[in-house]
Amino acid sequence: MRKQKKVSESYVIMTELVLPNDTNTLHNLMGGKMMHWMDIVSAIAAQKHSNRIVVTASVDNVSFAESIKLGNVVTLEAKVTRAFSSSMEVHIVVYAEDIPSGKKVMSNQAFFTFVAVDQSGKAIDVPEAIPETEEEIRLYDGALRRRQLRLVLAGRMKPSEANELRSIFDLKEDAE
Ligand SMILES: CC(C)(COP(=O)(O)OP(=O)(O)OC[C@H]1O[C@@H](n2cnc3c(N)ncnc32)[C@H](O)[C@@H]1OP(=O)(O)O)[C@@H](O)C(=O)NCCC(=O)NCCS
Repeated sequence: MRKQKKVSESYVIMTELVLPNDTNTLHNLMGGKMMHWMDIVSAIAAQKHSNRIVVTASVDNVSFAESIKLGNVVTLEAKVTRAFSSSMEVHIVVYAEDIPSGKKVMSNQAFFTFVAVDQSGKAIDVPEAIPETEEEIRLYDGALRRRQLRLVLAGRMKPSEANELRSIFDLKEDAE
């Protein structure tokens, strides 16, 4: 039987201070630096779930709604939402906090997909992820649709094979 692990076992929290070298000329955190931190925190979550080496396969929808300032404290939280065969979707939520004013905002969230690989870089199966809380179940349920959408966009799945997405693409059952 396939091994099972709770979603909560993959939970990772990472805290960073925005320093001058992390910012642009407006003293705001650079997007690339944020994505680097998101990649690291989510890779650790995927490693905790799989106990394997993992590689980033895709990054979904990183948008920057609010700028994060020099001196802010950035907290990144990540956990696996669902595991497929060798791939795992990880949800990352980022908060920015200005400690002197006590203001803390959620600045962005994203889904990264990691694939567990062996020493030669070949994809290898991972344990099933078991959601427990209401939020974990909601994210788990949506993960199949998101997977199909990203695989269609990456040219790795035909829209006609994306059963969960049929209503969005308005495809007939036998469409090519
Ligand atoms: C990701 C990678 C291991 C997939 O290898 P592959 O030979 O295409 O393997 P497969 O076709 O067997 O697919 C393996 C898994 O990857 C998933 N996958 C592949 N491309 C994907 C993509 N663009 N988005 C999401 N998942 C993807 C597949 O869906 C499959 O998942 P599953 O096993 O859970 O069904 C390979 O493409 C790779 O090593 N890429 C480079 C990774 C890297 O260097 N990342 C850092 C970039 S800076």
